[in-house]
Amino acid sequence: MMIRALIFDFDGVLMDTGRYHYKSWEILLDKIGLTLEPEDDLVLKGASRIDSLEYLLHKGQLLLSHYQKEALLKEKNRIYLDLIDHLTLQDLLPGVYPLIQAAKKEGYQVAVASGSRNARHILERIGALDLFDIVIDANDVPAAKPDPEIYEHVCQLLHLHPAETVVIEDAEKGVAAGIAAGCYVLGLGDPAYLDKAHMVVSSLAGLGLDDILQGVSRDLIA
Ligand code: BG6
Ligand code: MG
Repeated sequence: MMIRALIFDFDGVLMDTGRYHYKSWEILLDKIGLTLEPEDDLVLKGASRIDSLEYLLHKGQLLLSHYQKEALLKEKNRIYLDLIDHLTLQDLLPGVYPLIQAAKKEGYQVAVASGSRNARHILERIGALDLFDIVIDANDVPAAKPDPEIYEHVCQLLHLHPAETVVIEDAEKGVAAGIAAGCYVLGLGDPAYLDKAHMVVSSLAGLGLDDILQGVSRDLIA
């Protein structure tokens, strides 16, 4: 089967927003007497807003009501949006823009599948929405990664079989979602925790379309 589309995750793939998610959890936890630890990032990366909070409260052994949790989630997002307010189109991660341009030039479809409810809004604000054929975020699909639903949904909208797509993901949960959906997966980051991906790179900078197609599967280019 031929590859016909690239599907990008948002946080940590299109933009370096993971660190602002981390920082906003840190600020929020401080307000309720809890501490965020660097190793928590592996759990938080790719997890939905509510799953992240549930994990942190469970770890900190804090029992809160539904309303208290709702208030914290709202506050976390307020802090996060404040922290990312300065980001512009120039802050797309290195290699992203050339890769999208190359893919479009070669006739590939280009999509976004993000577990963040802010993804579409941020892309719109920085003027990047038009770069993509389809943008789906957590407002559109309730099931959070590692559930494959978001990738299955994007493939349906692209009218493609998952094996005709390459998902680009920086989180273990996102790689798992892409694999479970039947997509090819390019991991971005540390191979130690992205080992389920078909191929892992440390950056998209300088990475060509052919490198990706050859890397995810040697027998794809026939
Ligand atoms: C994921 C991030 O993409 O989106 C997580 O990796 C984040 O860190 C999640 O918690 C949900 O994002 P948001 O913007 O809806 O709070
Ligand atoms: Mg991510």
